[in-house]
Amino acid sequence: MMIEDMKMIKKINHVAIVVPELADAQKFWVEALGLELGSVAQVPEEGVEIAFLPVGDSEIELISPTEADSGVARYLAKRGPGMHHICLEVADIEATLARLKTAKIPLINEEPAVNKNGTRYAFIHPKGANGVLVELYELTGQAA
Ligand code: CO
Repeated sequence: MMIEDMKMIKKINHVAIVVPELADAQKFWVEALGLELGSVAQVPEEGVEIAFLPVGDSEIELISPTEADSGVARYLAKRGPGMHHICLEVADIEATLARLKTAKIPLINEEPAVNKNGTRYAFIHPKGANGVLVELYELTGQAA
């Protein structure tokens, strides 16, 4: 492994968990475990609401469906609550995606998308990642 390879992935940015209700999930993550509730956001275009709970340098992301026909609602109906994806923060998302394409790893997003905070993200298909949905994040500006 080359030195540049090790710098490509910076850290685990967050681990995401699908839950039926954010308020109910907080009974464990906030009240029992003592994590702080960070940002909560509605993402109507994906039919979900999302809460971020900081844990040291990383975060727990709780995702809950707000629409019965959203992808996350179908995921929840099929598999029940649980781990949804892990998100790796990368220095250069274009370079990471190019490298994965060269390695013939199946991608959900061939090109990075941009979220409300300006963070560029893309998902790797679980069939290329040992059954785990992996998200890549490249932070820009002051997005967290
Ligand atoms: Co995520």
